[in-house]
Amino acid sequence: LSQDKLEALFDRFMNGSSIFNDREVLRHDFIPENLPHRENEILKLGAILAPALRGAKCSNVFIYGKTGTGKTAVTKYVLNRLSKTSDRISKCLRICYINCRVAGTEYRVLSKMCASVNISIPFTGLATAEVFSRLRCGIDASNQLFIAVLDEVDKLVKDYGDEVLYELTRANEELKRGRVSILGISNDLYFKELLDPRVLSSLSEEEIVFKPYAADQIRDILSQRVKVAFHKEAISEAVINLCAALAAAEHGDARRALDLIRVAGEVAERKGAKRVLEEHVREAQKKIEYDRVYDVLSSLPLHSKILLCALYDYEKISNQGVTTGDLYEIYHKLCNMIGAEALTHRRVSGLLAELDMLGIVNANIANLGRYGRTKKIRLTVPQKILQNTYSEDPRMVELLGYCPKIVK
Ligand SMILES: Nc1ncnc2c1ncn2[C@@H]1O[C@H](COP(=O)(O)OP(=O)(O)OP(=O)(O)O)[C@@H](O)[C@H]1O
Ligand SMILES: [Mg+2]
Repeated sequence: LSQDKLEALFDRFMNGSSIFNDREVLRHDFIPENLPHRENEILKLGAILAPALRGAKCSNVFIYGKTGTGKTAVTKYVLNRLSKTSDRISKCLRICYINCRVAGTEYRVLSKMCASVNISIPFTGLATAEVFSRLRCGIDASNQLFIAVLDEVDKLVKDYGDEVLYELTRANEELKRGRVSILGISNDLYFKELLDPRVLSSLSEEEIVFKPYAADQIRDILSQRVKVAFHKEAISEAVINLCAALAAAEHGDARRALDLIRVAGEVAERKGAKRVLEEHVREAQKKIEYDRVYDVLSSLPLHSKILLCALYDYEKISNQGVTTGDLYEIYHKLCNMIGAEALTHRRVSGLLAELDMLGIVNANIANLGRYGRTKKIRLTVPQKILQNTYSEDPRMVELLGYCPKIVK
């Protein structure tokens, strides 16, 4: 018996988990040492960025693809390797990675860029143009190539417009020694439409599209992570395959698959099981879906919540789907009950369209013979989740108990 095995045995005893070996590797921000099925994307990005090693400006790149397809992981992986090589040979490169959603405001994005070229700016107060002029000074003083990596850049542009991108794309015209390249990442395929055509054409000098993963690709990604994350005896091929299949059926989202297997492990652990079973995966799937719907429902604005309560009340007495007119009547009643001013028909139709997009309700055109055509609206999320979520909201409880009288 080797020393290591005994050590491992003790460790396991101390940590107390018979399921997990190292949960950390299932975290969203963990970057594994290799990324299966992304070799082409890695090499393509590497080829675009390689001129940076000589300090030459490389093409701007725009990376897009659906959520969980490895955009952030691949980008960080390539940038890590690039900066290691650069530090070894040339030091003519400065990389500034910013997640725009995490940074939150345009000003924070700007101040992070400044900080990375050793320029500190006050917490608030400077105009964008002034910040940019200081940033340019910093980049010039560094005499390096500055790569601005803007992850989830759609969040920045949606809230603040494309001024930062515009200034970055133009910066090279005014720089004397330093240079700027931009790497933008987005999972919003319509994001491009928000950009000024000049900004767009400059940002997407090169484009890399990340496709959703297929089930067998997700299986490989999971297998690799699972080897470290779980004890060997605690996990089986069948469980990995099931997680891969469920995640692939949805959007080919690797993050979703990793969540699924982690939550399945937690379910197994809570039940005191020695190994993860397929039933634990099914339960994990339900739990994740429940949490997702819960989050969406509880973050809706007040009138969308009232509208959903109205729909819920209707569905207690009929599962035929409700017409917009009848739903509006119930909604109006509920508004009176809690002293809220009802919105117009028009606004309510708008809210319904949003709920439809979020996948919470489904509105089908139904033919009502001589009465013409109308929409029939149904809840698409389980009534139970809606009831649980809104029971926690004191304003809503009363509304859930209302019994509508309009059944024609
Ligand atoms: N090829 C891969 N090999 C190993 N792990 C991967 C691979 N692709 C994605 N992952 C893992 O899946 C998760 C999601 O990947 P990542 O964060 O890169 O997605 P993304 O495309 O940036 O999604 P979003 O658009 O939501 O930001 C991460 O934990 C990442 O480590
Ligand atoms: Mg990402």
